[in-house]
Amino acid sequence: MGGVLEDALKQAAAWMATSGKTIAFTGAGVSTESGIPDFRSADGLWTRYDPAEYATLGAFRADPEKVWRMLAEMEEVFAAEPNAGHLAMAELEAEGGLAGIVTQNVDGLHQAGGSRAVVEFHGSGRSYSCLSCGASFLRAEVRVMEVPPHCPGRAGQTCGAILKPDVVFFDEAIPPQAISQTERLVRGAELVLVVGTSCEVYPASEIPQQVRARGGRVVEINLDPARGLAPHLSLTGRFSEVMPRLLEQWRSMHS
Ligand code: OAD
Repeated sequence: MGGVLEDALKQAAAWMATSGKTIAFTGAGVSTESGIPDFRSADGLWTRYDPAEYATLGAFRADPEKVWRMLAEMEEVFAAEPNAGHLAMAELEAEGGLAGIVTQNVDGLHQAGGSRAVVEFHGSGRSYSCLSCGASFLRAEVRVMEVPPHCPGRAGQTCGAILKPDVVFFDEAIPPQAISQTERLVRGAELVLVVGTSCEVYPASEIPQQVRARGGRVVEINLDPARGLAPHLSLTGRFSEVMPRLLEQWRSMHS
């Protein structure tokens, strides 16, 4: 770690130590070190699949088997473990330094790492819905060995339609509960940590700007800077290294 990053870590920790409310806004980059590819980096999912063809509800309705070829890769997330960054973030929350996380991720790794106040802005891959009969299942309940998974049906009725994970596709609305939980978190936030996200997807990308518009600070932790974010401070590096260092610095300044 160079001196520049060290200085930036100290500055960020000092701001966090005096911030009345700090929140985090996270994306796929927090999970790459857990073995899950992100979307827009060199080996990201969208370099291999065109999201217009593979990540819309319209595409799913038209050809669910095709969309499941992309979703099958996302299923790998369920074998993944939280990394040192997830764990540090959970400790920061437990010690009173973080009010909560709004994540665009559907992998559940913040929760697996011990974070409690987590808003899943783009839904969750841990549950499925049937677009045909309306049934809902936890992934663990369906226990499908096959991809794509088929609906077991409900109330004694057989169904058999291909299930859709409860992730938010590009032409779907953000779940209303996620919107209201996010509003609650953003309200009064004096600092937002923007972590592992390119901030390219609207409306999630508005979250840092909402904090800034209300006078809060924006601190970025990313390998590649997010275009258009214009943070007050940038910590360039890997989440699994930077986040534990930031926690350490915050602990040394926080009384
Ligand atoms: P992106 O793939 O667009 O951005 C990932 C960001 O994480 C990039 O800025 C990387 O530089 C950074 N990054 C990668 N590995 C990192 C690491 N180890 N440490 C720190 N930073 C790292 O992913 P998102 O911004 O999450 O939505 O994408 C947003 C949304 O686009 C996703 O939720 C998904 C996708 O389409 C939907 O499908 C609706």
